[in-house]
Amino acid sequence: MLWITEFSGFFSAALAVILLSPSLQSFSPAAAIRSSHLDAYFRPSPSASDHSVRNFSYRESPILRNADECRFSGGDPGVCNPSYVHVAITLDFVYLRGSIAAVNSVLQHSACPESIFFHFLVSETSLESVIRSTFPRLNFKIYYFAPERVQSLISSSVRQALEQPLNYARNYLGELLEPCVDRIIYLDSDIVVIDDILNLWKTGLGPSTIGAPEYCHANFTSYFNGAFWFDERFNETFKGRKPCYFNTGVMVMDLKKWRRFGYTETIEKWMEIQKAERIYELGSLPAYLLVFAGHVAPISHRWNQHGLGGDKVKGSCRDMHEGPVSLLHWSGSGKPWSRIDAKHPCPLDSLWEPYDLYKRSH
Ligand SMILES: *[C@@H]1O[C@H](CO)[C@@H](O)[C@H](O)[C@H]1NC(C)=O
Ligand SMILES: *[C@@H]1O[C@H](CO)[C@@H](O)[C@H](O)[C@H]1NC(C)=O
Ligand SMILES: *[C@@H]1O[C@H](CO)[C@@H](O)[C@H](O)[C@H]1NC(C)=O
Repeated sequence: MLWITEFSGFFSAALAVILLSPSLQSFSPAAAIRSSHLDAYFRPSPSASDHSVRNFSYRESPILRNADECRFSGGDPGVCNPSYVHVAITLDFVYLRGSIAAVNSVLQHSACPESIFFHFLVSETSLESVIRSTFPRLNFKIYYFAPERVQSLISSSVRQALEQPLNYARNYLGELLEPCVDRIIYLDSDIVVIDDILNLWKTGLGPSTIGAPEYCHANFTSYFNGAFWFDERFNETFKGRKPCYFNTGVMVMDLKKWRRFGYTETIEKWMEIQKAERIYELGSLPAYLLVFAGHVAPISHRWNQHGLGGDKVKGSCRDMHEGPVSLLHWSGSGKPWSRIDAKHPCPLDSLWEPYDLYKRSH
């Protein structure tokens, strides 16, 4: 664990340097929020001929072991062992490098890395071998998410790239995962965790089914259009609630309640309405707002320092929000690995780089 301690030390130093740097432009939370949910829209489609995407090769991550104080009951290595912390993340060719860095970051900062079980949602089964060779001792399972499951529910939009079925896989965790898994942390692929994930896992959800950082200053009206707000079939949806925006890239989900209340179907119903009536312009997020806004267990903002991807404007770099940081999220269209490869990194991209396991081919 000494190595981890040193590593964290390096990290705090790096953070301090960046936080003190006056050259970083600040930005309004609303702008960050707006850019973060557009994320899904700007995913490029993977192209089979693109070697930089398909020709992956990753360094093996160092093997980390549980500290003495971990109360992991080693007995049953299966997914149903009640000592596991469960984490779900998607894997696809386009974001693979990000997903691998995210997993690496979770392990590096965990005092009990052997007590974490990863659930990978894929639409390409060939990705399993990459995970196995990069993380030889990882507890994980691969779940195939058939794109056809949602394809017919995804409303068409101006840009085809906005309609990646895997973006919707988080809605199916309740049915994909084993029934014994009754809590899951869902993480996007463009994040790194710089704190012990156990602290997020232990968050109480109270009566709520999901927990996430909430952003109540965001203009909630703007997430839906006139077809929603001026239609009496829809415009009382939030009556009696205090809806706030939240980002679905970091969520703690009570799958027991999720399954019991059938939220997968509720979200699918809204997707059908969206397909017929076009009540919002965004991708997978608004259906979550319709079902959960106002009923979310608020989690500390330190667990989603979002918006670091910036917007489409080339070279637009974002600063962090005030306050402590446990998770950095490059939501927005810019991704740290692309900017690093293009030799135009943003200052905060240096916080992502230590977790990158990508090995360039020579
Ligand atoms: C990987 O890269 C090598 C060398 O650049 C190339 O010959 C090979 O076709 C690539 N493989 C794939 C699957 O793109
Ligand atoms: C919130 O957004 C709506 C729709 O985009 C807009 O009409 C309204 O003026 C905004 N309200 C505030 C307080 O900015
Ligand atoms: C809902 O829409 C109807 C029809 O446009 C309108 O008369 C009503 O004022 C709206 N209600 C709210 C709460 O906005």
